[in-house]
Amino acid sequence: MGKVLSGIQPSGQLTIGNYIGALQNFVKLQHTEECFFMVVDMHAITVPQEPAALREQSEAVAALFIAAGIDPSKANVFMQSHVPAHAELGWMLTTLTNMGELERMTQFKDKSAGKESVGAGLFVYPSLMAADILIYNADLVPVGDDQKQHLELTRDLAQRFNHRFGDYFTLPKPYIPEVGARIMGLDDASKKMSKSSSNPGSFITLLDPPDVVRKKISRATTDSGREVKFDPANKPEISNLMGIYAHCSGLTLAEIEARYEGQGYGPFKKELAEHVVAVLEPLQARYNEIRSSGEIHQILKRGAERAAEVANKTVADVKEKMGFLAPRA
Ligand code: AMP
Ligand code: TRP
Repeated sequence: MGKVLSGIQPSGQLTIGNYIGALQNFVKLQHTEECFFMVVDMHAITVPQEPAALREQSEAVAALFIAAGIDPSKANVFMQSHVPAHAELGWMLTTLTNMGELERMTQFKDKSAGKESVGAGLFVYPSLMAADILIYNADLVPVGDDQKQHLELTRDLAQRFNHRFGDYFTLPKPYIPEVGARIMGLDDASKKMSKSSSNPGSFITLLDPPDVVRKKISRATTDSGREVKFDPANKPEISNLMGIYAHCSGLTLAEIEARYEGQGYGPFKKELAEHVVAVLEPLQARYNEIRSSGEIHQILKRGAERAAEVANKTVADVKEKMGFLAPRA
């Protein structure tokens, strides 16, 4: 059994992009690997968060993990801040990270662009992410395409540590879906679908009611022409919608093309909306049950206990390797 770790920030509603890029693979991997899935609240505070909203969103995202199909008897689900060892290893790895490496991170460049002042946490965020992964010696990290660069840095840091202090960390690999690794905005297929977009018509959240989903999809931008064909270079908007269709229906891209041959975009969009609704409706029903039962707190407690067992052992080993003086009786 390999080890799997991933995290999602509680910085807003989760979108169908998070579901396709990450959550669906969390659900898949839990059957064969030891999994650690966390809500990364320590990452969320790298940009300002309103305390009450952060608390609510954290619980909501944890409940969405379970509603999306993560089985807490198979996978460990927890809050990053409930396992303080992450912050401790994060600091140690920060000291092994070069400024130049962090300056090259495209997520940092995007998030800091045009800002008058940028928090230092946003800058060192990739070192904390590396700690999240290495602390479990994870083999696989299910993420969307935008996290690839952070994964490369994680591997570099693991190698650097191993070289300086002796072989210890596993080099993790990203686990990225072939289609749907980057779901784009419904209004503009040149931009990633993001929960922080100012235009709510550009994203579908996992908690959008069916009629809102139908409306957003009917208004989604389409390419000129009328052929439903997967061709990201020439038909970026339709290809993006086809990626969503494939993940929500289980059909292949070729099957989708064949189904709508000669029919134009209208019927395609209508049925796409129904496939998305069919995925979201049961998920939302489970979500409401989990939120009203309060069971999530017990799940998070158990998840953090198991996570801390592994994480604390790693931090103790790393301290010993780096030359920290251990406390003695
Ligand atoms: P975030 O919402 O930035 O914390 O992202 C959580 C996970 O969802 C990461 O693995 C991202 O790569 C993935 N993700 C976020 N947005 C998208 C998207 N539009 N398409 C595919 N994956 C995404
Ligand atoms: N940086 C990731 C994002 O923005 C979230 C994250 C934090 C993460 N720690 C992680 C993802 C560890 C995978 C593994 O989406």
